[in-house]
Amino acid sequence: MSANFGRQFRLSIFGESHGGGIGMVIDGIPAGFPIDEDAIAYHMARRAPGNDPTATARKEPDRVKIVSGILDGHATGAPLCGIIENTNTRSGDYAQLRSRIRPGHADYAGFVKYNGYNDPRGGGHFSGRITAPLVFAGSIARQILQKQGITVGAHIAAIGPLCDSRFDPVNLTADALTALHSLRFPLLNADMETPMRAHIDAARMRQDSTGGVIECAATGVRAGVGSPFFDSLESVTAHLLFSVPAVKGVEFGDGFAISQLHSSESNDPMRVADGHVICTSNHNGGITGGITNGMPVILRAAIKPTPSISRTQQSVNIETMENTDLAITGRHDPCIVPRAVVVIESALALALCELLMDDAATHFI
Ligand SMILES: Cc1cc2nc3c(=O)[nH]c(=O)nc-3n(C[C@H](O)[C@H](O)[C@H](O)COP(=O)(O)O)c2cc1C
Repeated sequence: MSANFGRQFRLSIFGESHGGGIGMVIDGIPAGFPIDEDAIAYHMARRAPGNDPTATARKEPDRVKIVSGILDGHATGAPLCGIIENTNTRSGDYAQLRSRIRPGHADYAGFVKYNGYNDPRGGGHFSGRITAPLVFAGSIARQILQKQGITVGAHIAAIGPLCDSRFDPVNLTADALTALHSLRFPLLNADMETPMRAHIDAARMRQDSTGGVIECAATGVRAGVGSPFFDSLESVTAHLLFSVPAVKGVEFGDGFAISQLHSSESNDPMRVADGHVICTSNHNGGITGGITNGMPVILRAAIKPTPSISRTQQSVNIETMENTDLAITGRHDPCIVPRAVVVIESALALALCELLMDDAATHFI
């Protein structure tokens, strides 16, 4: 397995959904950097399960025990290790999944790759639970970014076919992004909450699940962040986003839709305003040549429907190599999207932090 990310902000995650715990080691936080543990807990609570009808009933406080790396509220410069206990496991729910494979989940691919030794309980290391360490690391990255005047935020852009409004790609503000953090079902158009929740609930009642899209942005990013060729901001961010379980699509700016424009439409016109270069549109999502151009960075991630559903599905028994039917028991998110909002934000925060730290011109303390 590859559980490591980054050359500057070096993150290593560990754990399995129903093991003793999950956690992370972060190496590279500048010594003396002040760390706000309340802010970390705030973002961890946004992802924690059991707090909303759209989420799994598994209740986990996701409190992080800091083992090393912080003293008197400041990074010591040593690797920061944090551990989150798994307190609410019901591994019995997964007894049948040792041999019977969940369609759409990682069970078959993981079984083949790890010769059947992978932990299948609750998805093991493939569980959405493993995004908790990502949110922890992302919360520290956000604090580093905040010192640079950068804010990251996201909203639910779609649930199934139902769409929220889009971010204003030119005039987006840090306050608008921060306001979204406190919403359990973050939308720009609050009128969409009732129909979207009804769509999720209707799927659940049919023993099914639904997916959606998350739109995420960063404001305050100066021009010049990103190291092409392979460490362009798009490459590094996409690497992190596609590491998040259930993400099946990523687009920056207008994304796939930009291919339907003419250049006279997709080129963002440039002006000088108050001594700064700005664009009057933002079809490129604040990134050109893999490097930020000073406009808001904007991306969208497509999240698939939760694979574990209680409706009977065709599957296989990997021990007997026979066809079988499978009705999955256990506690699952009827829709992953609301809990994944903070995870997508964390991926963008980590990518920006990694590339800013790579830049000698950036001062962190
Ligand atoms: C926050 C979050 C929560 C998730 N919850 C569940 C869940 O309750 N049940 C489930 O089957 N999959 C859940 N997933 C998705 C699976 O982990 C994922 O679909 C699986 O590992 C297969 O990977 P892939 O979808 O990237 O192909 C969740 C993912 C995230 C990010």
